[in-house]
Amino acid sequence: MPYLLKYIKKQIMKIEDAIFGRFHKRIEPMQKLMSFYKCALMEVETKFKVLNEEFSFLHERNPIDSIKTRIKSVDSIRKKLRQRHLTLSVNSVEKNLYDIAGIRIICPFINDIYILADCLIGQDDITLFEKKDYIANPKKNGYRSLHLIVEIPIFLQNEKRYVKVEVQLRTIAMEFWANLEHRIRYKKDIDKKLANELAIELTDCAEMSKMLDLKMQNINKRIDK
Ligand code: GTP
Ligand code: MG
Repeated sequence: MPYLLKYIKKQIMKIEDAIFGRFHKRIEPMQKLMSFYKCALMEVETKFKVLNEEFSFLHERNPIDSIKTRIKSVDSIRKKLRQRHLTLSVNSVEKNLYDIAGIRIICPFINDIYILADCLIGQDDITLFEKKDYIANPKKNGYRSLHLIVEIPIFLQNEKRYVKVEVQLRTIAMEFWANLEHRIRYKKDIDKKLANELAIELTDCAEMSKMLDLKMQNINKRIDK
């Protein structure tokens, strides 16, 4: 019986793949939606670049070290919809997934994160949809970052569309930590015992990176004075 179930599940996945593949490759609405996300990312990225420019002019340093953007792949979108038992459709993507367009802002100091986030949220074309402050409330494993889901209008030839973008703001130290933690999390063939040991060490490192962030910020403040 389990074999039969496995077989049926495999066949369903094949059909889903065919439908979703078709819907992503040939049907225009999905391509159109993905291009809206690209446009929204461009808009948000420009907003941060403008803020960076103004800040560096006023304070003689950059609050942004680097910016990374990404659009979720169609494969990952399909996986996420499937995991959440949601319909595989263009409407469902738009309605249920808020992280198709993602931008990560990497800052030298924690203060920069909150200044930039407040400036963005305060802009009158931006609507804040969700805010998760993992800096004030780090995850159990030590993960820290500020996450925002914002909605931004994009202006097309004949219409104005509101598009959601996930913004992650973190320090250089938080990025360093999260990248290593991500590597372990997604390494499939890692020994369980080793994975547990490394998780404990990483949680220690998270605490150290928090201390480093605070110390560096303090030094910077004293330089400014
Ligand atoms: P998903 O979007 O399905 O992940 O769920 P969610 O919206 O509840 O997640 P959340 O907003 O907490 O995190 C979204 C993103 O933040 C993830 O896709 C990662 O990029 C990042 N993230 C969250 N937690 C961790 C973590 O513990 N480690 C690392 N390396 N990244 C994390
Ligand atoms: Mg998310």
